[in-house]
Amino acid sequence: MMAYRRERKVKKGGKRSGTSVSDRDGIIALKDLTKKFGNNVVLDNISLTIEKGKTTVVIGPSGCGKTVLIKHLIVLLRPSSGEVYFKKRRIDNLDEHELNKVRTRYGFLFQAGALFDSLSVAENITFPIRQHYKIKDWSEVEELVKTKLAMVGLDGFQNFYPANLSGGQRKRVALARAIALNPEVVLYDEPTTGLDPIRADVINELILKLQRELGVTSVAVTHDMTSAYKIADRIIMLHHGKIIADGNAEHIRNHPHPVVQQFINGQVNEDDLAVLRASGTIFQAQFLPRDFEE
Ligand SMILES: Nc1ncnc2c1ncn2[C@@H]1O[C@H](COP(=O)(O)OP(=O)(O)OP(=O)(O)O)[C@@H](O)[C@H]1O
Ligand SMILES: [Mg+2]
Repeated sequence: MMAYRRERKVKKGGKRSGTSVSDRDGIIALKDLTKKFGNNVVLDNISLTIEKGKTTVVIGPSGCGKTVLIKHLIVLLRPSSGEVYFKKRRIDNLDEHELNKVRTRYGFLFQAGALFDSLSVAENITFPIRQHYKIKDWSEVEELVKTKLAMVGLDGFQNFYPANLSGGQRKRVALARAIALNPEVVLYDEPTTGLDPIRADVINELILKLQRELGVTSVAVTHDMTSAYKIADRIIMLHHGKIIADGNAEHIRNHPHPVVQQFINGQVNEDDLAVLRASGTIFQAQFLPRDFEE
């Protein structure tokens, strides 16, 4: 059997419990991970175990290190100190060649996760396959593209080019590409950003479907709390390089930390206000009602 047809057993009836988190079924682990860029400490001694078959959502304000965090899960960034494990094997110290083999177990949908404009939908989806394997049987690959597109509701769009798709359709094709190699783990960076609520919800449903039907482990970064509450078994909030909240939706909703409450309720926090005040934009940009009167 060809490697890209790797199938996995999926436990049936594994209803999401959304309850407490244990280390038992960890598929990825970060251990005492610190990431600095110059003097900027973005992740400050973080330890985290990602549970197999669950959806973990990472939230936090812009610039807090969410993208940096998920890039470490697949070692697209190397830690300044600390370790990364995939299935108990240390991976942060592997060379690129070895890492690329590990990366075939992952699918990812990145923030700027654009499709290749010059490639058709089908070519975009086969891209990761061609990157890692020599294809001998094209009919098998065609079948695979069809299956993946059907999963995201876009079978029939094989010969379209990205320019002729809507934003939501492009995300769905990117998702089909992310699952082309039947990954065990899918990483999503802002999967619903820029989509209207209905299209965003289609993506949420697809993430849930992948978990239910393929048993994938998902890690998603998002600002979108509607999406977070819908898809997450577990929500983690990052703030100043640390995890300040960690638990299911209920736990996060009722979290006593004011920064968590401000974030989930979409309020501007004091740090942001200080920056805005310092740059003078709040007051200078303000208009009085009479500015609009005739
Ligand atoms: N390659 C890099 N070199 C230097 N600094 C970086 C690099 N990548 C990220 N940073 C810094 O790390 C911090 C966290 O960035 P990151 O992209 O993880 O934020 P984020 O939480 O994903 O924000 P957003 O919600 O806006 O996507 C920022 O201060 C950013 O400037
Ligand atoms: Mg980001």
